[in-house]
Amino acid sequence: MTPNADRFLSDLHALRGFGASGVGKGVVRPAYSEADGAARDWLAGRMEAAGLRVHRDPMGNLFGLAEGPSLLLGSHSDSQPEGGWLDGALGVVAALEVARAARAAGGPPVSVVSFQDEEGRFGVTTGSAVWSGQISLEEADRLTDHAGVTLAEARASMAARAGDFVDPARFRGFIEMHIEQGPVLDSAGERIGVVRDIVGIRDMRITFTGQQNHAGTTPMHLRRDAFQAVAAFNARINERFRNVVTPATVWTVGHVSLHPNASSIVPGRGVFSMQWRDGESDRLARMEAIIRETAEEVAGEMGMDLAFGPMLGLEPVAMDARLRGALEAEAETVAPGRWRVMPSGALHDATNVAWLMPVAMLFVPSIGGISHAFEEDTAEPDLVTGLEVLAGAVARLG
Ligand code: GLV
Ligand code: MN
Ligand code: MN
Repeated sequence: MTPNADRFLSDLHALRGFGASGVGKGVVRPAYSEADGAARDWLAGRMEAAGLRVHRDPMGNLFGLAEGPSLLLGSHSDSQPEGGWLDGALGVVAALEVARAARAAGGPPVSVVSFQDEEGRFGVTTGSAVWSGQISLEEADRLTDHAGVTLAEARASMAARAGDFVDPARFRGFIEMHIEQGPVLDSAGERIGVVRDIVGIRDMRITFTGQQNHAGTTPMHLRRDAFQAVAAFNARINERFRNVVTPATVWTVGHVSLHPNASSIVPGRGVFSMQWRDGESDRLARMEAIIRETAEEVAGEMGMDLAFGPMLGLEPVAMDARLRGALEAEAETVAPGRWRVMPSGALHDATNVAWLMPVAMLFVPSIGGISHAFEEDTAEPDLVTGLEVLAGAVARLG
């Protein structure tokens, strides 16, 4: 079973054309955007040409189904608001190439998936989270993006083409190939990472509401300034996490919105995203308690009303030993001595799919460890090495 590296790279570059940012190889292809829809239509055509039956579910997850029991390969094709060309796209296009190669060689049946909203415009890995029952469709439909659009509104645009959810029992397992999105492989000069486990995540929107007022006439001691509350919360949280976190724990305030966001107005409302990740659920829970206590303390001291949005989260998961073993054996064959077993600090659809079937993941290096940015890139020989390891592992699994 020999995957065609040129056809694979050519498809990967073609997919980059949908939502190309014009800056480096970056893409702007958020879930349910016009570019995302066009990319999914193009992918559906490639699936059909590969002899797969195209199926869209109510979330917009796009499947190319092989007949009978099959191995499922894939990832996602939506991007962050500013994203790279490989995050998700690599796993989908590699899956397509392995499905074609397997079919041509009379190898094991391979189905392909591109999950919807992995990048969390609405939730956290929303498409696969709904498919795997981590969150109900009804609950997910009420989630909003930062502009206040609900998921229900966003997915209505493609509802006419949606069929039912695919029965996961038709798949024997799931393998997701992805870029590492961190510095480990690149700095060690290694070609492949075989994932051992994926960290857990919590994500919550927090709102401080004070009093909007005139920036020239309102004395400092009378202000109820929502920005000052956000800033105080952030400083305290960094201090208080110290006793709880490990060097592998991460937390991020990635989105802040001040209302009305004008130079001469004391902001009346501050809404921000609080996200934290760690390999242990207990630690995630302890961090949540600190976050809630600190926000309440700041609100009390600074005269703010406080609201917490829905708590989104995924638990840490381990990869399946058998699937992982096939990737390890193949990594040693293709890149002897230049691969490692490693954790994933990024979230992936594999986390959700692990509730439905055995899953495994492999990584290729990210140049400079950069991702979720237009600069994201991987050397093409490394992309091809990853493809070969994926194809070889599928052949081993038979
Ligand atoms: C997925 O893109 C993540 O944020 O880890
Ligand atoms: Mn991804
Ligand atoms: Mn991503």
